[in-house]
Amino acid sequence: MSLRYGSLQGKIAVVTGGGSGFGAEIGKKLAQEGASLTVLDVDDAGGGRVVEEINAHRPRSARFLHCDVSLRDDVAGAVRRIVEADERIDVYVNNAGVTHRNAPMLEVSEDWFDRIFAVNVKALYLSALELVPVFRAQGGGAIVNIASTAGIRPRPGLTVYNASKGAAILFSKSMAVEFAPDNIRVNAVCPVAGETPLLAEFMGGDTPELRAKFAASVPLGRLSQPRDIANAVAFLASDEASFITGVALEVDGGRCI
Ligand SMILES: NC(=O)c1ccc[n+]([C@@H]2O[C@H](COP(=O)([O-])OP(=O)(O)OC[C@H]3O[C@@H](n4cnc5c(N)ncnc54)[C@H](O)[C@@H]3O)[C@@H](O)[C@H]2O)c1
Repeated sequence: MSLRYGSLQGKIAVVTGGGSGFGAEIGKKLAQEGASLTVLDVDDAGGGRVVEEINAHRPRSARFLHCDVSLRDDVAGAVRRIVEADERIDVYVNNAGVTHRNAPMLEVSEDWFDRIFAVNVKALYLSALELVPVFRAQGGGAIVNIASTAGIRPRPGLTVYNASKGAAILFSKSMAVEFAPDNIRVNAVCPVAGETPLLAEFMGGDTPELRAKFAASVPLGRLSQPRDIANAVAFLASDEASFITGVALEVDGGRCI
C-alpha cells in the first residue's frame, strides 16, 4: 500500500528572496510538499504577502524574517532565530539575486559589480558559514542555489551577471565535494529567462516582440515559469534526491544544448 504524502513532510526549509518571482513560488511549493518555511527577504511587504498566503492554506507553517543576504550579521541572526525556534534546518534555498540591466560590460558601474557579487555570490559563502555547523551537528542537510543558464551559456549584455552565476555553479560543485562526508548536499538550479520582475532587466525591456524573440531561442518554445523552477528545487531538496549532489540542473526547455 502506498500513501500519498508530501516529499518534504516535516522538513524545516528556508528560502531567500522568497518575497517575489521564483522565490515566492519555491516557498509555496516547499510548503505544499509539507515543509515548515521561513522566507528571508529585504522586501518586507513581498515576504509578508507570501507568508500570509501560505498560512491561509496551512496555518502557522510559514514565517517571514527580514534579512539582507549580503550582510553577515543578518544571515547569522536569521539562522540563529530559525534554529532556536525549529531546532534544525533541513533545506536552505539561496534564491535571492540581482542583475544589472542588459548593457555592454564597460557600462556596468563598479557599484553594480559589487552589489551583484555580494548578493549572488558572497551570500552563498555567508550562508555556508552559518549552516555547515548546524548541518554537521544534526547529521546533514541540503542546499539548493538558484544559478542560471547565464552561468553555462553566457551571452553579451549580461557579462557581470553571467560571471556571478558561473561562480554560483562552481561554488555549488566545490561545496558538494568538500561537504559530502558530512552528508551535506549542494546543488544548483539553472533557470532560463522566466516570467518575473527581473525579466525586463535581462532582456533590456519587456515587449511582446522581445519575448517572442527569446522564446524562439528555447527548443521547447517558451520562457520558464516560476512553477518549473519550484518543482526542480523541491525535488533536489527532498530525500528522493539523496544521492544527487553537485549538479547544475538546467530548467531551460533545452536552451543550453
Ligand atoms: N527571472 C529570470 O529570468 C531568472 C533566470 C535565471 C535565474 N534567475 C535567478 O533567480 C533568482 C530569483 O530571481 P527572480 O527573477 O525571481 O527575481 P525577483 O526580483 O522577482 O526576486 C528576487 C527577490 O530577491 C530579493 N532580494 C534582492 N536582494 C536581496 C538581498 N540582498 N537580501 C535578501 N533578499 C534580496 C528581492 O527583494 C526579491 O524579493 C535570482 O537568483 C535570479 O538571478 C532569474
